[in-house]
Amino acid sequence: MSQHVQSRRLRAVDLAKRKAEGRKIIALTAYHAHTAGILDPYCDFILVGDSLGMVMHGMESTLPVTLEMMIVQAQAVMRGTARALVVVDMPFGSYEASREQAFLSAARVLKETGAGAIKLEGGARFADTVAFLTERGVPVMGHIGLTPQSVNTMGGFKVQGHGAGDEARLIADARAISDAGAFAIVLEGIVEPVARAIATDPAVSAATIGIGATSACDGQILVLEDMLGLSERAPKFVKGYGSLREHIEGAVRMYAEEVREGRFPADEHTYAPR
Ligand code: KIV
Repeated sequence: MSQHVQSRRLRAVDLAKRKAEGRKIIALTAYHAHTAGILDPYCDFILVGDSLGMVMHGMESTLPVTLEMMIVQAQAVMRGTARALVVVDMPFGSYEASREQAFLSAARVLKETGAGAIKLEGGARFADTVAFLTERGVPVMGHIGLTPQSVNTMGGFKVQGHGAGDEARLIADARAISDAGAFAIVLEGIVEPVARAIATDPAVSAATIGIGATSACDGQILVLEDMLGLSERAPKFVKGYGSLREHIEGAVRMYAEEVREGRFPADEHTYAPR
C-alpha cells in the first residue's frame, strides 16, 4: 500500500487562493539556509533570486549566474525552510532558446532542489514557454517591467511604463503571461499608474507581486539584503527595515579591538583540563 507524505509547505495554488481572498502575499528573497529559516514563518514564498549574483558574488549584473549556482542556493533555502513556497529564478541562458530548453532547465531545478515553482523574466514573447511549462507540471511565476537580465537591451536598470506605447506593451505582457497559466507575476520597476492598471486588471488572473511597483499589487517582495540595510546601495523603492551593515561593522570593530588588546578570548571562552 502506498502512502502520501503530506507536506505543510505552501504551493503555487495557495498564492492564487490568497489573491482570491484578498489577503496580501508576503515575499522576500533568500539564498542561505539560515536567513531563509528566519523568514519562513513570515513569508508566503521565498524567492531564490538570480540577484544572488550581484548581492552574494559582487557581479555587475545577473547575467553570469548559472543554473548550477541557482540549484546550490535553492537546496540551501529548502533545507532551511519548512513552510514557505520556494520559487527559484531561471538564470539568463537557461530558458530563452526554446520551450524544450526551458522545460529541461526547470525540471532540473524542481528535481534537484524540491522547490515548488520557477520564475522567468519576459512578457508576451515567453507566453508560449509559460504554457509549455505549466502544461507539463511546472508552476511558473512571470516577471515583467524592469527585467534585470535584459539590462543590455534596456540600456540600464530603467524604470518602465513611461508613455502610452510602453503602458500598452506592459499590460499586454501581463495578460499574455497570465493567460498562458502563470500563477503569479512580479511587476518590477513600473511607474505607479501603469503598475496599478495591471494589478487591478480583471483580465490578469495571476497574482501580482510588486517590487518598485504599486501597493495595489496582491503582494510585495524585496531583496532581503536591501531591506536589512546590508547592501552598499539600494534602489529608491527599498524601505530600510534594518541597519545590518552598521551592526556588522560595529561587531567586527569590537572583535578586532578585543583580539588586539588580548581581551578575547576571556576565561569563559577557554577549556579547562578535566
Ligand atoms: O532576482 C531577484 O531577486 C528578483 C527579485 C528582485 C524579484 O528577481
